[in-house]
Amino acid sequence: MKIAVLTSGGDSAGMNAVVRSVVKIGILRGCETWIVREGYEGLVRGNTQDYVPYDAPLADPIAAKRARGGVKSAIFENLRFGDGDLLRDGTLDHPNGRSLKGRYIVRAGFDDVRGWFAEGGTLIGTARSKAFRTQEGRLAGAHNLVKEGIDALVVCGGDGSLTGADIFRAEWPTLIDTLLAQGLITQEQHAKHGHLRIVGLVGSIDNDMSMTDLTIGAPTALQRICEAIDNINSTAASHSRAFVLEVMGRHCGWLALLAGVSAGADFIFIPEKPPQANPWEDEMCEAIQRHREVGKRKTIVIVAEGAHDANLQPIRAEYVKDVLSERLGLDTRVTTLGHTQRGGRPCAFDRILPTLQGEEAVKALLESTPNTPSYMIGVRENKITRVPLIEAVAMTKAVADAIAAKDFAKAMSLRDPEFLQ
Ligand code: F6P
Repeated sequence: MKIAVLTSGGDSAGMNAVVRSVVKIGILRGCETWIVREGYEGLVRGNTQDYVPYDAPLADPIAAKRARGGVKSAIFENLRFGDGDLLRDGTLDHPNGRSLKGRYIVRAGFDDVRGWFAEGGTLIGTARSKAFRTQEGRLAGAHNLVKEGIDALVVCGGDGSLTGADIFRAEWPTLIDTLLAQGLITQEQHAKHGHLRIVGLVGSIDNDMSMTDLTIGAPTALQRICEAIDNINSTAASHSRAFVLEVMGRHCGWLALLAGVSAGADFIFIPEKPPQANPWEDEMCEAIQRHREVGKRKTIVIVAEGAHDANLQPIRAEYVKDVLSERLGLDTRVTTLGHTQRGGRPCAFDRILPTLQGEEAVKALLESTPNTPSYMIGVRENKITRVPLIEAVAMTKAVADAIAAKDFAKAMSLRDPEFLQ
């Protein structure tokens, strides 16, 4: 089996550990392993200009010696030490004679991913690909996989990326029929690639995927937020100030809620459970007033970036600040943590989870048949799980639908983990 792994959507700590795990376990299980650079965008672009087959002899004899000597294949040294803008120009030529320019689908060896569990972001690049949302783009993606003989795909990304994976798998028979009809693949390739094995791993700081307790990267992001609040707490208490913190999470309040619990917030706004009081400003001010009366010297309010009131009107940190200043006379500052929450080295759990889930992903691919569903690898009550991707995607969408319908009780009941309800 030839397995390719890609990371897609917003990066999250732990994505490199996914790639490392899939590559290493895949090789140990007798598979050939590949990576797709730049997410689905790389799948659509494939290996284009300057394409040098992976196994072509190296032009430079010194480089050939290095490669034969078991030195890192160096394909990935560009990724690690390059300028970080792999799509831009011809800076991808590596001294070993191989080039990544125009090559988005490349072989990965055991040593290429050494130490990747400790690296932040995603070393193989990610993108939010518009092209892959079109059937034309997916057709190009299918063609590029068939050309390389790849028959299994691991996608690590958030709910949008996994929805894309689900569509790709469902469309696969039509795509390869079209490729055959257009004369782009042979009968033999068509017969060999009748079934695309796909598995999804959830990489997202938002922890917004249903049917799993945790997404890869969420624990690290939570840790970053906690550390930031710890820092803010000391300066806030010194001046007896209030701070309003805006945290990421898109339409999910997990980061905001858990950060509030672990670092001691006075009031938290999340999308799934907006304040019910009308006006909510009274409810917030009363709570904070009470806390001040019992002796608190500082105030922390956390606003999830997707927070809104019961009528779905957005709640903005700047507005909360104005309310605290004007109604309670508090000296208030706003801090937006932004991408500091997303970048940086993964915490221990964001190395363990992707490592275990990567192993399960390879197992699921090896066991996959045309009749088994594509799985999402999750974690439930400390056990690595497999759930049909299509169900997890549908349930995640159901949360968004419940919020849009102002059925907040339902939105909360569909969220994991259940103890938060
Ligand atoms: O989904 C991850 C996430 O970090 C969200 O929390 C946030 O809304 C979004 O991505 C930010 O995206 P970008 O990096 O494209 O601004």
